[in-house]
Amino acid sequence: MSELTTERSDMWSSSFIFVLAAAGSAVGLGNIWKFPYIAGENGGGAFVLVYLICIAVIGVPVMISEIMLGKLGRASPIQSLLNLCKTHNKPAGWSAIGYMGVVTGFVILSFYAVIAGWVCYYVLRLFSGEFTGASAESVGSAFSEFLASPLQVTLFFTLFMVITIFFVARGVTRGLELCVRYSMPAVFVLLIVLIGYGVHTGGMAESAKFLFTPDFSSLNAQAVVIALGHAFFTLSLGMGAIMAYGAYVPQNVSVVQTTFTIAFLDTLLALMAGLAIFAIVFAEGLPPDSSVGLLFQTVPIAFGSLPGGAFFGGLFFLLVALAALTSAISISEPVVAYVSERIKATRAKIAIGVGVVCWLLGMGSVLSFNVWSDVKLFFDWTFFDVFDKVSQLVLLPLGGLLIALFVAWVLPSTIVNEELGLVTKQRQQAWRVIVGVVTPLAVLVVFVVELAREIFGF
Ligand code: TRP
Repeated sequence: MSELTTERSDMWSSSFIFVLAAAGSAVGLGNIWKFPYIAGENGGGAFVLVYLICIAVIGVPVMISEIMLGKLGRASPIQSLLNLCKTHNKPAGWSAIGYMGVVTGFVILSFYAVIAGWVCYYVLRLFSGEFTGASAESVGSAFSEFLASPLQVTLFFTLFMVITIFFVARGVTRGLELCVRYSMPAVFVLLIVLIGYGVHTGGMAESAKFLFTPDFSSLNAQAVVIALGHAFFTLSLGMGAIMAYGAYVPQNVSVVQTTFTIAFLDTLLALMAGLAIFAIVFAEGLPPDSSVGLLFQTVPIAFGSLPGGAFFGGLFFLLVALAALTSAISISEPVVAYVSERIKATRAKIAIGVGVVCWLLGMGSVLSFNVWSDVKLFFDWTFFDVFDKVSQLVLLPLGGLLIALFVAWVLPSTIVNEELGLVTKQRQQAWRVIVGVVTPLAVLVVFVVELAREIFGF
């Protein structure tokens, strides 16, 4: 073997492409569909502030850790962790983080693809021009009617799943690059158009006030847990997705710089989507807490009253679907990479296998909005709620917590300092305090407070 054993043949061809791919993973339904509706349900400003703090204090250090682990381990998350434990004589049990990530991946991809299916359906509906001049009521009822039809929802969910598996089967780098390079700037431009529309209708001032004026009376412990979970979800952290991508990073990429770029882009897009959507909400007098339907009940109204709205509206949903695709691909990567290391099967076969399992799990979420809407598994959660909440509120933060602890207290600090270019003692100590104490403690405190809230009911 040559001395290049740590360089894999399927590397991202440059650091720029890695940034694109990681940003493609981060920017998705979490930014455009989820962030606005959870901000709406949790009262706006104060929630947004907590979310921003979570991104900075928890998200950024965990992302740095994940990319670094991938880069050091050069394999699937499970194998990377095993490699690192073996090299440094640490208990192999730490690879449990990787196994947990595989399970989390199935859970997330299953419901993520269902929502992405809704987006695909909206591509067609907007292009058809039927929302031109439509009222808020008709846009709202069009959404409820669609959700009530398990057949239609299944069809579009299946379509999205098939497209995702097709790309996953072809390997990570191909296709992804093209998708992100053009679709992300385009999403950005269309969000600016929507923001301009919001300024024009007069809803923007109220939207900005809602999102950026913290009113702490509307903040409770549950909102804090949701903000924390969302910080993980939106940055694709806590299950090894970014770690798996990190395995293909060229040696010369700066982990820290890349992380800042991705976190910045991701946050920017979420805030823009929030601003655009709440401007429509306030201009139309809609309730801000419309839950999962918020995106689908607002954006068509705006495009419906803009010139060329059918085309640009269709394009907007198409771009959101592409953003969801680049995210979905990354969710499957830890599993697919791991299975490819373990069994001698083509990537295509493995991808199809993963797709079938996710499809079966996803049907639970499809039916949660119609046939099984009264089936509550625990609390008052439907199948979809369970998948959504357990992954975001428990699995991702727990994964992130363990990743931070592993990097701070298990890996030898010399390796970490070298990889992150921490030359001065102060920097080394600052990093250790952040990732080894502040980040894990923040996650733990939020967990404990939420648990106490559930038990003592405050
Ligand atoms: N971050 C993506 C979004 O906001 C979703 C996503 C991709 C994800 N990969 C992930 C979420 C890994 C959790 C873990 O849409």
